[in-house]
Amino acid sequence: MDILLNPLNRRHRLRSDIPVMPGAFPLVGHLPAIVCDLPRLLQRAERTLGSHFWLDFGPAGHLMTCVDPDAFSLLKHKDVSSALIEEIAPELLGGTLVALDGGAHRQARDAIKAAFLPKGLTQAGIGDLFAPVIQARVQAWRARGEVPILRETGNLMLKLIFSLMGIPAQDLPGWHRKYRQLLQLIIAPPVDLPGLPLRRGRSARDWIDAQLRRFVRDARAHAARTGFINDMVSAFDSSDGPLSDDVLVANIRLLLLAGHDTTASTMAWIVIELARQPVLWDALVEEAQRVGAVPTRHADLAQCPVAEALFRETLRLHPATTLLPRRALQELQLGQRRIPAGTHLCIPLLHFSTSALLHEAPDQFRLARWLLRTEPVRPVDMLQFGTGPHVCIGYHLVWLEMVQFCIALALTMHKAGVRPQLLSDVEKGRRYYPTAHPSMAIRIGFS
Ligand code: HEM
Repeated sequence: MDILLNPLNRRHRLRSDIPVMPGAFPLVGHLPAIVCDLPRLLQRAERTLGSHFWLDFGPAGHLMTCVDPDAFSLLKHKDVSSALIEEIAPELLGGTLVALDGGAHRQARDAIKAAFLPKGLTQAGIGDLFAPVIQARVQAWRARGEVPILRETGNLMLKLIFSLMGIPAQDLPGWHRKYRQLLQLIIAPPVDLPGLPLRRGRSARDWIDAQLRRFVRDARAHAARTGFINDMVSAFDSSDGPLSDDVLVANIRLLLLAGHDTTASTMAWIVIELARQPVLWDALVEEAQRVGAVPTRHADLAQCPVAEALFRETLRLHPATTLLPRRALQELQLGQRRIPAGTHLCIPLLHFSTSALLHEAPDQFRLARWLLRTEPVRPVDMLQFGTGPHVCIGYHLVWLEMVQFCIALALTMHKAGVRPQLLSDVEKGRRYYPTAHPSMAIRIGFS
């Protein structure tokens, strides 16, 4: 199938001396191709236009996309701002730390980061909290024999995040629906009419924020209670400068959002890879039998190198966050070009994650990349989590839950004498933006 580009738009144009990718549609620009076919779009743009080119993100405008490896280090550059994220998704990410720079960003991040480090996670007993939830879910899959994998991992992740926050897991399907509608705010055309994505997304956000405000009020009323929301509320309340409840609610919403779709997608891809590569499954089962139980502390993760390698290699080939927007505050040198101050930039994590410049045989799934390495993991090896001041706060949490999930899956299915089987076409229905995920329709059998 050809890439979803507008055949009537073939004109070659330049902006600031940099080529614009042809094929944009009115209003939505290149978004259809970005959402459905990003890898081929980036490859074609690089082949025909070189390492620097403009992509049209529809309502978010044109972003200068650079596939030169130098672009990754822009994430650490002092003259590059994240404020563009708020302009692209003001209703969703406005006031959240992902869209803040400098001192304001540090203040908001400092108020929550300790809870996400291995020590904080271990002290809060997060591994003990998650293990039974994960085990119960994979047992249910075994009993059902066949599941739509992304829907299932999405529900599991929501349940885990709820338990992390100390929120009783009632009405999960309702929350799930609200999340899907909320995500539409990122690509919603600016038309506010009943039934359209903007109206639906706003009402989902208002619903979620109202629930979160209630949780915050509840946390203050029961300050002695433990739980993630209580810890966050007290960290925010004792922060150096005043942080309003709006900032607090927006950042809890960010955590729910950032920790849900990305992780559900990665977990679903892990199961898909295990189903289509029996040798991976055999290696995982061997490891799971050796360790004998789902690990619960960070210190135990070193005993599960196969599960860790599975998580890292799956995320390398299927990064959940594919593109990061930024703005140049000053004129910058980027590869061979000068980029004017004010330029809107797109940093294609997907491209670097599967680049031949960084990885041997980049398209092949190789556990050995991770199992045989002797040096520690470098920032470039975990670029799927970004780098610099905004590097993902959830990295250690993801690592823990992915290893727990792999071991629980292998122990449960092996005990029942079954293994995962792929029942659908993996290539059909993949999405790459705003977050990347396999098709909702993919089914996995356990037999
Ligand atoms: C596989 C799973 C995940 C992936 C691939 C991922 C990826 C990323 C990336 C690429 C960024 C950098 C954004 C930027 O620089 O603009 C980021 C930031 C962030 N992530 Fe994650 N993430 C994942 C899971 C999580 C989880 C589980 C949580 C928390 C529950 C989380 C919370 C955050 C937060 C709060 C930020 C913003 C940090 C800041 O701006 O200082 N993420 N993530």
